[in-house]
Amino acid sequence: MVFLCLCVQTTMPIHTKPNIVLILADDLGIGDVGCYGNDTLRTPNIDRLSREGVRLTQHISAASLCTPSRAAFLTGRYPIRSGMASDESRVLLWTAASGGLPANETTFGKILQQQGYTTGLVGKWHVGVSCDTRNDHCHHPLNHGFHYFYGTPLTLVLDCENKHTEIGRRQMPTYWFYTRILAFLLLLVTLGKVSGYLRVSWRVVSILGLGVFLFFISWYSSYGFIRHWDCILMRNHEVREQSMVLEKTPSLIRREAIAFIERNKQGPFLLFLSLLQVHTPLTTSKNFLGRSRHGLYGDNVEEMDWIVGKILDTLDQEGLTNNTLVYFASDHGAVLGFRIDGITLGGWNGIYKGGKGMGGWEGGIRVPGIFRWPGVLPAGRVIDGPTSLMDIFPTVVQLGGGQVPQDRVIDGRDLMPLLRGQVSHSEHEFLFHYCGSQLHAARWYQRESGRLWKAHFVTPVFHPEGHVGCARSVLCPCHKDVTHHDPPLLFDLSRDPSEAMPLSPSSEPSFYAVVSHIKEATREHQRTLTPVPRQLSGFNTVWKPWLQPCCGVFPFCWCQENVHPRDEL
Ligand SMILES: *[C@@H]1O[C@H](CO)[C@@H](O)[C@H](O)[C@H]1NC(C)=O
Repeated sequence: MVFLCLCVQTTMPIHTKPNIVLILADDLGIGDVGCYGNDTLRTPNIDRLSREGVRLTQHISAASLCTPSRAAFLTGRYPIRSGMASDESRVLLWTAASGGLPANETTFGKILQQQGYTTGLVGKWHVGVSCDTRNDHCHHPLNHGFHYFYGTPLTLVLDCENKHTEIGRRQMPTYWFYTRILAFLLLLVTLGKVSGYLRVSWRVVSILGLGVFLFFISWYSSYGFIRHWDCILMRNHEVREQSMVLEKTPSLIRREAIAFIERNKQGPFLLFLSLLQVHTPLTTSKNFLGRSRHGLYGDNVEEMDWIVGKILDTLDQEGLTNNTLVYFASDHGAVLGFRIDGITLGGWNGIYKGGKGMGGWEGGIRVPGIFRWPGVLPAGRVIDGPTSLMDIFPTVVQLGGGQVPQDRVIDGRDLMPLLRGQVSHSEHEFLFHYCGSQLHAARWYQRESGRLWKAHFVTPVFHPEGHVGCARSVLCPCHKDVTHHDPPLLFDLSRDPSEAMPLSPSSEPSFYAVVSHIKEATREHQRTLTPVPRQLSGFNTVWKPWLQPCCGVFPFCWCQENVHPRDEL
């Protein structure tokens, strides 16, 4: 008996195969979170994670836009290695585009599945659906290491909700009204002609018919098209809502995440909760509207935090807290300067310059990053060294007992030794900051001196002068309308985290030495890149009707989730 007990104890160290809950917010800025210094937005649940775990202050995303950042997160590799970075289109804009995470890429989900984990993705995917036919689902989560998927294969876009868009709010109802009037008129004229009451020629009837049809097409293409084809919810391979009813979506996602944990509490499980918040159109439940001090955006952040709290409550109730690693981060920085009708639709990146889609500036890539695992990770610890969202891949793979693939470059590093305090320095000496497929900047963490250098080789041109943001759109281009710097713009982030004062050879004695060291590392990095198919090329990112997920017979795709009126939303 005694022997048996010993046996069990030695072969089963307490912490083998923890459950893993990865929560990724969308477009949340580092300055939007309480434990990162925001004292007016309330995020008590994220703050609780930080109090009970380890908070990273230099957590860097591989790109400042969704699709490439998420591809890197899932694979632990710079998006350029999987072909998920491009100059033509930087993100997927259609569910029915053929580009996406290639099948030969290995996600952490795939490896954890092999290690006996039940893996689930709830929320946003945004790295592709199908390649050649409507249902091949070559890029779909179920083909990339997830046993279960519920959510949107793309992302939220403004068109998913009509109240924020110009067309939606003002023109759409008017358009629709006239469409119906015209259709009615057409019907009357046709009936009149058929019954002989009206003496018009068939030519007039058909011209009228054509006019009505064109009017409808113009209404549909400016209002209904994107919404119908992009704003959909799927469960596994099946389309469940088309178009999604946004009022219900956040609660559907929340309940799916909780149900996944409850179904799999025997563990081990991995849940990737990829939140739809706080991306526009900032769909917020009635309970949270008007609650924050920061308008619609703040309300949306507070609801997101509440959802995080519900997940933590579920872990507590099921007694899973002590054997579950919880991670919280944002896919990249907040979007700046996005306002419609005076309403701010983006967040705040604190002291960091720039934001979503602005090249290599810090605000677009430095995000909140928190790990909690009571009893294993110290509580209340703060780590300032550089870490990357790509580190999640090797970290969770190794926690689950798996091995990272040996046949390819993995850019992430196992974070456990750093999080547990077994080593004092991050393993990242260099990190590279891409904009599309262009390398815009690189950082060098000089361990001996503790200095953190960042060199910008290319920066977007901000308009007007002195303003942070680009003229034509909230997202800056990567290769047109940019400034090339040689020598690069060099900053010492350890003294100037806001990238406000570029160094010069006269202000910084080691200027040239630092620059040449970074350039050498950059060349070395670039030597490890191999050509791969460009997943986001122009051809791979256009809408291809034959790939369109549809819950009926294409193009007649309409369906709704049945939510029982008694179900609490
Ligand atoms: C808190 O977040 C809001 C919303 O993004 C922002 O407007 C505000 O400036 C932030 N406050 C601080 C102190 O960072």
